[in-house]
Amino acid sequence: MYKKELIEIANTKLLKVTNRPEIVMCKGQGMYLSDIEDNEYLDFIGGWAVNCLGHSPDVISNILAKQSRTLVNASPSFYNLPMLEYAELLINNCCFERVFFSSTGAEANEGAIKLARKFGYVCKNGAADIITTQNGFHGRTLTTMSATGKEQWETLFEPKTKGFFKAIFNDFESVKNLATEKTCAIMIEPIQGEGGVNVATKDFIQKLRAFCDKENILLIFDEIQTGMGRTGKLFCYQHYGIEPDIMTLGKGIGGGFPLSALLAKEKLNIFDPGDQGGTYTGQPLSMSVGLAVLREILDKDLVENSRKMGDLIKKQLCELSKQYEIEDVRGQGLLIAFDLLQTKGNDFVNKCLKDGLLINAPRDSSIRLMPPLVVKEKEVEKLITILKNNLKIRKIA
Ligand SMILES: Cc1ncc(COP(=O)(O)O)c(C=O)c1O
Repeated sequence: MYKKELIEIANTKLLKVTNRPEIVMCKGQGMYLSDIEDNEYLDFIGGWAVNCLGHSPDVISNILAKQSRTLVNASPSFYNLPMLEYAELLINNCCFERVFFSSTGAEANEGAIKLARKFGYVCKNGAADIITTQNGFHGRTLTTMSATGKEQWETLFEPKTKGFFKAIFNDFESVKNLATEKTCAIMIEPIQGEGGVNVATKDFIQKLRAFCDKENILLIFDEIQTGMGRTGKLFCYQHYGIEPDIMTLGKGIGGGFPLSALLAKEKLNIFDPGDQGGTYTGQPLSMSVGLAVLREILDKDLVENSRKMGDLIKKQLCELSKQYEIEDVRGQGLLIAFDLLQTKGNDFVNKCLKDGLLINAPRDSSIRLMPPLVVKEKEVEKLITILKNNLKIRKIA
């Protein structure tokens, strides 16, 4: 089919939910995506921080072929082999004792919110309020939209789920001021991804942990974007010398296959049968992929590559900022952002797209990079060359 016809289908048949360029992707290999006209794109969006092993990795295609010949679905009412093997490996590599599997990040966060409220009902006189943060992002179901701190969403789809209060990120006093005896949890992203890559300070997180311990409040880390090696540690909480009570994972956990997880401390194994579930929880295909992805991350030490390549990219961006109109290079591991002076983020994204580079603009003048964890120096070099070609030179005062 010709591109014109395909775009016609897109324009007339798909429910419009976002603006997309007139490009139809058809292939992915390693760090590159290709479209139906054989244009190649160096991918520093990484499927939105998802394709941690790159595009079409053998590890995923092999296990999908093997598992789909063995067992695709056994129903959520039975255990299955990959589910148990994966649960054990995941738990052995983090500070939690219990896991519940689902398919999307928002679903994992819904589970975390329900678990926190169950804790409030069982252990804290019915406390159900949850403190989240301004500019935080937790998903697009109605409840996770309620938890999200996007100003534009405040009045959308009313009435939303009640009981969420938005504190200022990295401002402990603002969190403290919102806490009452009705608060059951504080839920944050250690690095706000969609909010523009805002990194939580160690002081902020450690104060939150101490405050939660004192007030019997749960600390929930939404690591859907920061987990699975993205920030140069397997999980971002490991940068802070603390342990959350609940953590959610998504995106990179399945390397492109829909998979998410809710992890919790043993004391939170308090759901009654029927409180939580789902047709696809622990589905053998996603479990075998999750297991294979985690094994690959550990075996190939991709967490170290994330740290090393992240440091290299940040160093090169800081060098660029001396000559070109960029500032505030920030982030950890391979979750990096910088701000543009006098250029709109989307205009810059479109210019780079024409040069075959995929990057993202989470805010007006911010650019975000979240490449696969397998990125190598030669691809970083190409990234910097294309950025340089499109950046404005600083005016000397
Ligand atoms: C921190 C965070 N939480 C939750 C979500 C929602 O995940 P999903 O789109 O898989 O539902 C996202 C997605 O961008 C995210 O970045």
